[in-house]
Amino acid sequence: MLDGKVAVITGGTRGIGRAIAEKFASCGADIALIATSDSDAAKETIGRLEKTGRNIRFYICDIRNSKDVTDVSEEILADFGHADILVNNAGITRDNLLPALKDSDIDDVIDVNLKGTVYMTKAFIRSFVKQRSGNIINISSVVGLMGNKGQANYAASKAGIIGFTKTVAKEYGSRKIRCNAIAPGYIETDMTGSLGEEYTKAITAAIPLGTLGKPEDVAELALFLAGEGSRYITGEVIKVDGGMYV
Ligand code: NAI
Repeated sequence: MLDGKVAVITGGTRGIGRAIAEKFASCGADIALIATSDSDAAKETIGRLEKTGRNIRFYICDIRNSKDVTDVSEEILADFGHADILVNNAGITRDNLLPALKDSDIDDVIDVNLKGTVYMTKAFIRSFVKQRSGNIINISSVVGLMGNKGQANYAASKAGIIGFTKTVAKEYGSRKIRCNAIAPGYIETDMTGSLGEEYTKAITAAIPLGTLGKPEDVAELALFLAGEGSRYITGEVIKVDGGMYV
């Protein structure tokens, strides 16, 4: 389904990004994975992805730094020859009530989640325009749509991604470049693993489908958005949240 396509995935070494990488590679895509460090999780993920027989490469880059992002995009384009799909997945949380949020909590979250997404997209858009094709998938959050107590910085960053997604869709639709966002609800990953049993129980009770999601649930939608089946969909925000925000 993605035969011969090259997908660039930020934060692809664990959680949702890894599930997307595995799904794409199993459907024939070559993968450029970006993460901040060469962790054990990264090594394990690369090992698993290489078993698909696809061309898998790993790049260390902190997406907060626009110069590093430009450099890594050039390296990826040189290594693979081109790129077809960009998944802006890397993201962090620094949760607290507004008065308790440190400046660094606000800066870090906006820098990684929002500015990182903008830098990455800016770095690849020229090559997409040149080849008159490209597919950008941004990982936002239901929190960017509905807000959430204790996540003012995170909600702002994820809402920002939605405005950015719609703008890129409008700016580049005529060049056959699509840009959509996925808004996951609560998905079982390291990010949500630290929330505690009590909190997780309360969240689960508020989800009509009665359970947290799996990274694979998000990967299925990413695959649809990456493929030809969604060729007439752009500027859209699609939730994968078990009905949590209806
Ligand atoms: P995770 O914490 O398991 O993985 C995040 C990834 O981002 C890691 O690979 C990490 O290395 C990478 N990363 C962090 N900062 C980076 C930086 N400065 N430069 C490059 N890479 C960096 O997170 P998870 O749960 O897999 O989340 C993936 C995306 O989905 C995030 O954008 C998150 O906000 C979003 N999301 C997650 C939800 C959940 O319930 N887990 C719900 C809604 C959205």
